[in-house]
Amino acid sequence: MKIIITPLDLKEYLKTNRKTIGFVPTMGALHEGHISLIKEARKNNELVVVSIFVNPTQFLEGEDLSTYPRKDDADKKICELSGVDILFFPHADDIYGKDEVSVLSPNVRGYILEGYSRPGHFNGVLTVVNKLLNIVNPTNAYFGKKDAQQLNLISLMVKQLFMNVNIIAMDTMRESDGLAMSSRNAYLSKEERIEALKISSSLQVAFGMVNRGLTDTKVIESKMRETLHTLEVFYVAIVNRDFEQIQTIEIGNTIVLVEVKVGTTRLLDNIWL
Ligand code: PAF
Repeated sequence: MKIIITPLDLKEYLKTNRKTIGFVPTMGALHEGHISLIKEARKNNELVVVSIFVNPTQFLEGEDLSTYPRKDDADKKICELSGVDILFFPHADDIYGKDEVSVLSPNVRGYILEGYSRPGHFNGVLTVVNKLLNIVNPTNAYFGKKDAQQLNLISLMVKQLFMNVNIIAMDTMRESDGLAMSSRNAYLSKEERIEALKISSSLQVAFGMVNRGLTDTKVIESKMRETLHTLEVFYVAIVNRDFEQIQTIEIGNTIVLVEVKVGTTRLLDNIWL
């Protein structure tokens, strides 16, 4: 595996490349969720590129940028063992300079749900993903469905900016007890880890109700909130694939989303119906 630090070196290295490239952008602290993206990229592309970059512009003032888990040595090992060809590991000043041009997320879709509790967060995500896609120029780029709103906005950006990449959405990986895998799970104490299980339980409640034929989203949301009542809930929402609130479940076109705070850690999860 080759480790490359600067965008210019990576572009230079890939310049004569005629292979299909699978790209997995990450912020490091890799877990099984990331590994599943890398494995899928490995299966379907000749060259696999992973980036590790804790992107400062997607963190708001007072958020966990300085304490975000960093596991550089373990991450390098994981990438090597998962068959990554190139690990792109830039510093912040390799990616950002003075007087930055940025990509703005749409007013509604980028400022509801997670974008409401973290205003401007998605501008940072889109800006860095745009840069990374321009540097790597991949055939396929892999993102997890756990960050459903992020995935939706990235797909929209790629479509609206006529970018030449396929966005591949991958299912959420879960611990055996149902907790969605996330780098931020590392912040949880033993007690908080147990509390956090209420997130996936609330989604199971929604799944069960839909399975029994219930389609009224208000009723489902309120049952989910009962399961989550001991936690600080940022949102419980049921939307269609365009992130519009819906009154009735539409099978094949619905996402049920939750974001809560457990202790000081913000955790999100969702199911696609
Ligand atoms: O999902 C993430 O890890 C980040 O938001 C991403 C897509 C790598 C952009 O920094």
